Amino acid sequence: MNADRNQYLSAMGVEQWVLRRQAEPSEATLATPSPETAEVNAPDNTPGLDWPALQQRVAGCTLCQLSASRKQTVFGVGDHNADWLIIGEAPGADEDAQGEPFVGRAGKLLNAMLEGVGLKREQVYIANILKCRPPNNRDPRPEEVQHCKQYLTRQIELLKPKVILAVGRIAAQNLLQTEEAIGRLRGKAHRLQHFDIPVIATYHPAYLLRKPTEKRKAWEDLKLARTTLNRS
Ligand code: URA
Repeated sequence: MNADRNQYLSAMGVEQWVLRRQAEPSEATLATPSPETAEVNAPDNTPGLDWPALQQRVAGCTLCQLSASRKQTVFGVGDHNADWLIIGEAPGADEDAQGEPFVGRAGKLLNAMLEGVGLKREQVYIANILKCRPPNNRDPRPEEVQHCKQYLTRQIELLKPKVILAVGRIAAQNLLQTEEAIGRLRGKAHRLQHFDIPVIATYHPAYLLRKPTEKRKAWEDLKLARTTLNRS
């Protein structure tokens, strides 16, 4: 076992005796797929906006009903010159309270996953499909995704990342416009339509907290993202 692998596994809390071929339900079987398919007449309010203007636009957004229940919007965080863009699903309770993505338990594991490939959180950019918390952490609704899409699209235009890591089923299915299970989407490089940016899908850290045996696959996915970026 090399040092890189050791470092990752211990940062991820993977015990070396864990069986690799243990039968576990896939993440896709734990939740019903809800690909974003609804056509909503969402006006695009973002053309030409720079980072501060975009953040301000998001902060004042009332395009969907989530604006009524949120404490605050969760715009995104990180280096505006980052090569890596990490995209999650939506803010949870911790993120809604603090205004920053991935700050709860799943966020700590995400930080450890990034460290496993030599990245500090501050070196990447982290955002979500939705900028507001869905009540009771329910799945994003298609119309919410559709309204919010313009903000993430503008973030991608401004950032111009070299690789996108889609964490979890919701992020991967929405970015890749597919209903394919996350277990089938991970492990290969896809391209983001209209941008031609490589997208690597992996398991959501919240899922990995429930199914630690899958952490090794997530490590493979992060290594694939690193290799893909280095080749670009
Ligand atoms: N899960 C996500 O997908 N995003 C967050 O910001 C927090 C938890």
